[in-house]
Amino acid sequence: MKLLIAFLFLLSLLLTKQPVEPGMACPLGTFAISLIIDVAEYESLSVEQVLDKLCSYLPSEMSDPCNKFVDKYAKMIIEELKTDDHPDTIAQKIGLCPMDSQCTLFPQKQRIYFQKNSKSRYNKSEQELKSVWDKILGELKKIYEKHDPIVDLDGDHFSDSKKLRGSYWRGKDCDDLSRSTFPGKVPNSGDKLFDSNCNGVHGRDENKINYEDRFCKGTQPMGTMVIGDSIGAHFHIPVQFFQPDQLSNGILKDNLIDLIEMEGDWPQKSWVTGFDTTPNDLCEGTVNSIYLKMLERNRCNHRNYQNIAVNGMSSPNVYDLLENSLTESLQKESYPVFGLFQLFGDDICLSMNITQLPTPQQFRDNVVKSLHQLDSVLAPGSVIFVMSLMDGTRPFKILHDKPHPLGHGITYADFYEYMKCNEISFCPLWLTTNETERAYAEKLALKLSQQLYDIVENEKFVNFETRFVDTPQKEIEEVFIANGWDLLKMYEPVGGFHPTQLTNYWLADLTWKKINSLYPDLIPPINPHNQEIIDKFGDQGGF
Ligand SMILES: *[C@@H]1O[C@H](CO)[C@@H](O)[C@H](O)[C@H]1NC(C)=O
Ligand SMILES: *[C@@H]1O[C@H](CO)[C@@H](O)[C@H](O)[C@H]1NC(C)=O
Ligand SMILES: *[C@@H]1O[C@H](CO)[C@@H](O)[C@H](O)[C@H]1NC(C)=O
Repeated sequence: MKLLIAFLFLLSLLLTKQPVEPGMACPLGTFAISLIIDVAEYESLSVEQVLDKLCSYLPSEMSDPCNKFVDKYAKMIIEELKTDDHPDTIAQKIGLCPMDSQCTLFPQKQRIYFQKNSKSRYNKSEQELKSVWDKILGELKKIYEKHDPIVDLDGDHFSDSKKLRGSYWRGKDCDDLSRSTFPGKVPNSGDKLFDSNCNGVHGRDENKINYEDRFCKGTQPMGTMVIGDSIGAHFHIPVQFFQPDQLSNGILKDNLIDLIEMEGDWPQKSWVTGFDTTPNDLCEGTVNSIYLKMLERNRCNHRNYQNIAVNGMSSPNVYDLLENSLTESLQKESYPVFGLFQLFGDDICLSMNITQLPTPQQFRDNVVKSLHQLDSVLAPGSVIFVMSLMDGTRPFKILHDKPHPLGHGITYADFYEYMKCNEISFCPLWLTTNETERAYAEKLALKLSQQLYDIVENEKFVNFETRFVDTPQKEIEEVFIANGWDLLKMYEPVGGFHPTQLTNYWLADLTWKKINSLYPDLIPPINPHNQEIIDKFGDQGGF
């Protein structure tokens, strides 16, 4: 039964926008019931046996909300499964979904026992159901509310622990007790005594020359930064979580808490600030990033990266994000930033219907305000590359008739519509069978990109220059086609929207190439001392 909870948690991660809405009970419960049936089938067990066993699949931290849920629903699910094998209707009958729900996921033909007007046999009041949900969701909420490192003793926004917005997001703090030691800082007294910017270069040579002065001074070190959305943060739900054989191998037990603490994101492997090149089955594929390219050019940039990207980030919220994440006094002590500003589509995706879409002017005002906030904190000499919105119609075009990993003949079009119907879609106007809506949303996206271009052309900032970069989505498709790779592999299999690790690789590669060919004067020079730094300092303290 714990699997059920796992799925509630897991699928809440799917919901990059409002991960803790009570309205999620219905879809999450439905997915969970489907999984229980699948696991029972896969392991040739009775549903009772599966429910008993499922607890062991989940991390111990989740046992409490899980048990509460089991107490409420296990008997009902077992009872219903005797006469019904249709997850949609079971979820309705036990009160997880409204009886009149218009949203169903599983093919109608499986509805063997479904009687359209059958009343729930259970007397649970809505109030009672709500209180269970509030408890479960309340625990999730705690994790999601903050986007700053939880473990940050000196308040410099950098941390020496990895998760919870720590060093997977921003370079590891090599002294989390000192506010004057953090990655990206212009060093104190040439880092003669200690490594004040955590880049691994410090101390003095045999002639009493500071290594920072010898190897880094005048080499134009720059920090890599991304301000953006779930694509910048690299949102990714491992497909293994949906595979019954993997569940019995402890995949959720070992990884779920980590993923929740990471908000479902993998910034350490992301296309702008990724640095973790060690293979990981749960996020397979080669890591390539703007940061790794900046590091390759200049080893003095080691650990100087900041991932300020949040799932669901759209233009009205960037200002607050920047205000909370960047402190003027700290940034002014730092090297300038080589930054990417990317809002690939949440201004479109947060709208449930076309009347809610923002106007180009609203979008423009929000972006300009945010960029001025950024201008007030960054060190002079920075550069911000403003990326165009993605073509959000591509995932649907590529995936819509392909089978979704949930199985049972469900296609991506079914999955998208189900998520939309439950008001939890990643992007209701792009991921929909309604062609009018897709086209309308895309037309607006082009207008918003035009606004970004116009901002870059016309707005002036004190501490950074801006340049426009057309997001190389089409070029990535061309690479896939040229290599004979299925375009299906461009997007995350579970959600069917976010770029895969492979796409992230090419997003980094082609964006970097674009910047190099369009704006070569803004690429900082290669540090001639790179090999000496490697010889002297090895891996520079790692990450
Ligand atoms: C539901 O309530 C009715 C009357 O209020 C009662 O007769 C019935 O036993 C209850 N059913 C359950 C499953 O508690
Ligand atoms: C659009 O969504 C809003 C909020 O959910 C709702 O109030 C409004 O009626 C919807 N408009 C249309 C045309 O569906
Ligand atoms: C498609 O979307 C448009 C705009 O929201 C709406 O007016 C129309 O009824 C929708 N078509 C279908 C078939 O749902």
